[in-house]
Amino acid sequence: MLKGKTAVITGGSRGIGKAIALAMAKQGAGIAVIYYGNQQSADDVCREAELFGVKALSYQCNVADFADSKNVCEKIISDFGQVDILVNNAGITKDSLLLRMSESDFAGVIDVSLKGSFNFIKHLSKSIMRSACGRIINISSVIGLMGNPGQANYAAAKAGLIGLTKTVAKEFSARNVTCNAIAPGFIETDMTADLPQTIKDNLLTTIPLKRIGQVQDVANLA
Ligand code: NAI
Repeated sequence: MLKGKTAVITGGSRGIGKAIALAMAKQGAGIAVIYYGNQQSADDVCREAELFGVKALSYQCNVADFADSKNVCEKIISDFGQVDILVNNAGITKDSLLLRMSESDFAGVIDVSLKGSFNFIKHLSKSIMRSACGRIINISSVIGLMGNPGQANYAAAKAGLIGLTKTVAKEFSARNVTCNAIAPGFIETDMTADLPQTIKDNLLTTIPLKRIGQVQDVANLA
């Protein structure tokens, strides 16, 4: 049970982040839902969470922006008093083969997935360290472990996130804060909705269960 705890979920308005936010609310945690563009979706997640009897607030933030992240983290701490759990879930893809990949497409993906996670850990770490059992969960990807043609930026960001996770785990362990990464395989969300059917079919041949993962699979693990 997470009763009395507060969880911050970046990119919590849809997909995997939404499922994690609702799973934690169901366990009794108050939730701060960070969204980038769609306030209505974030507010809908909060209303759904409130049905579990918890406090739920949404915050607009570009996690890639250090100062924006700082302001939002300070607001969350002021609203909830304390943060116990951080889920760095916000991420984007800008796929193309490396020879065609622009500098901005490379930097953009790194800035959201990797630097965005650094930003939120940095600005919430003091509060999480004051918690009796702080938890940081970073959503990486199997692509960060395996690499994937067309995703040099995404693979680098997700592999970097694993290095960040292991280092934060070592640095924060003395304060009873754990830091873990989840590296999901192919999960059915808006991010993967536009993949051509042939690629989806090929992916299925590599998955022992012969089914695409669901957001609930990741939420249950988190
Ligand atoms: P999604 O596209 O549905 O959700 C991504 C979320 O991140 C959205 O809510 C979006 O608004 C938010 N976001 C994007 N840029 C942002 C920014 N600059 N500031 C704040 N929020 C921002 O994707 P999905 O599938 O739910 O992915 C969630 C996480 O899981 C991502 O980090 C993704 O890389 C990772 N993942 C997804 C897999 C999949 O197959 N869907 C597999 C492995 C990892």
